[in-house]
Amino acid sequence: MRSDALGHSVSVTAPAKINLHLEVLGLRPDGFHELAMVMQSIELADQLQFTSTADGTISLGCDDSSLSTAGDNLIVRAAQLLRDRSAFPELGVAIDLQKRIPIGAGLAGGSSDGAATLVGLNALWGLDFSQHQLEDFAAELGSDMPFCLAGGSQLCFGRGERLEPLPALKAPMAVVLVKDPSVSVSTPWAYGLCRELSGSRYLQQECDFEQRRQALRDASWLKPLRVDDPPPLRNDLQEVVAPEVAAVQVSLKLLSDLPGSLAVAMSGSGPSCFALFADFDSAQTALASQRQLFTEAGLTSWCTALRAQGVKLEQ
Ligand code: C5P
Repeated sequence: MRSDALGHSVSVTAPAKINLHLEVLGLRPDGFHELAMVMQSIELADQLQFTSTADGTISLGCDDSSLSTAGDNLIVRAAQLLRDRSAFPELGVAIDLQKRIPIGAGLAGGSSDGAATLVGLNALWGLDFSQHQLEDFAAELGSDMPFCLAGGSQLCFGRGERLEPLPALKAPMAVVLVKDPSVSVSTPWAYGLCRELSGSRYLQQECDFEQRRQALRDASWLKPLRVDDPPPLRNDLQEVVAPEVAAVQVSLKLLSDLPGSLAVAMSGSGPSCFALFADFDSAQTALASQRQLFTEAGLTSWCTALRAQGVKLEQ
């Protein structure tokens, strides 16, 4: 049943993700890369507020003026798609985004905002689309978006949209996350470079892809994520992006020097990088001891816990 209450509002939290594992298996017939990943939600999050309007327009405002609020923004695209799939072309919404996840960072901030829009507007507009339908809409909009909807710890295969949930986190692990605010990396560029430099080594056969997927499903460090057998962290895009982007090299070096860090890696297509810690306190203590070095290197830093869920409807 569609709600006609104008001026009604809902709020949604849209958390960022990191990649604990990003393995490029090969190239797909659709031109995308076949991937085997472990994605993990973190507490660093954007906040979105959706207010219904009577004028049938979809408008977006944001506290970060560097972000496009036009039709190329995944929030606007998600709102348009949801309205198109409903029987109600007159639906309108004013969306307010508080941007906390850095842009162009490899943290899926844009995808998470898009996923939050599907959840927020399904509730605000009373559309009653099922979780399964929302997942299909999410996959149409972006490879990372189904993960952002579900969140927590997930195996992600295919383009990244095929999810297999992992057991719930057993430890309160946390990360120190850094990004140079003046640097962003284009995801198509990173995958294009990977293909250029490593394409000759890509696997070709579905049976070889499946063998790699099964090896990841069987990995001891995933059963469940825990401190005594921490994730080894692997990101195949790091190999190709780091030599081209100095900020990634500096980030990885400073993070590996943090006392108590279990492992370090770049997230997604970068340039953000993170170090994994046994808990929030040890991450915070390590960062406090060396924050000055990060600041001098021009890096913004965050300390944030791993999170057990994706986007969340708050009210
Ligand atoms: O799906 P999404 O819009 O996030 O993908 C952005 C770009 O990243 C794609 O256009 C493609 O160039 C690259 N990509 C890829 N293989 C994937 C996911 C993304 O090559 N599995």
